[in-house]
Amino acid sequence: MSNHEHHDSAHRPVQRKEMSRRQFLSYTLGGTTAFMVGGAVLPMVRFAIDPLLEKKSESTWVKVVEESKITAEPQVFNFKVHQVDGWYESEAQLSAYITKGDNGIFALSPICKHLGCTIAWNTHGKNEYDCPCHNARYTIDGKNLAVSPKPLDEYEVKVENGFVYLGAIKPNTRV
Ligand code: FES
Repeated sequence: MSNHEHHDSAHRPVQRKEMSRRQFLSYTLGGTTAFMVGGAVLPMVRFAIDPLLEKKSESTWVKVVEESKITAEPQVFNFKVHQVDGWYESEAQLSAYITKGDNGIFALSPICKHLGCTIAWNTHGKNEYDCPCHNARYTIDGKNLAVSPKPLDEYEVKVENGFVYLGAIKPNTRV
């Protein structure tokens, strides 16, 4: 650098970067708008997803029938469960085929695993579950014999103080 150049830069006035009035207004209005929109939208988002943030409760047990009424022949029993689906609460009527097996009481869902019709026990006299819709058949343990791609679902079962309680539905563990 020559002496001349050094001299020039030393005497050049310091340039401060100042914000223009337009920039100041843009930042101020933008910030205020973002703050107000956030204040209005965030509570709505929280409201919409609130049920999803709640902890799932443990599976609830429903008292269905006296243990003494359960036989080796499957019988259907109806019961109601309280359902909470997001903000919507309802009473659902469910049913189960409950049977006394060699290793204790078990309960099967009556919903056919083909397309969801309701099966019935022994309608053709073969000691099987039969589906009236497309003739699916299942063994007493729910094993799929024809048409259906899967065995019948099973309920969690517990026996307490002489009563049978049913819990959540799960995939069949017996076949
Ligand atoms: S729904 Fe049961 S066989 Fe099709």
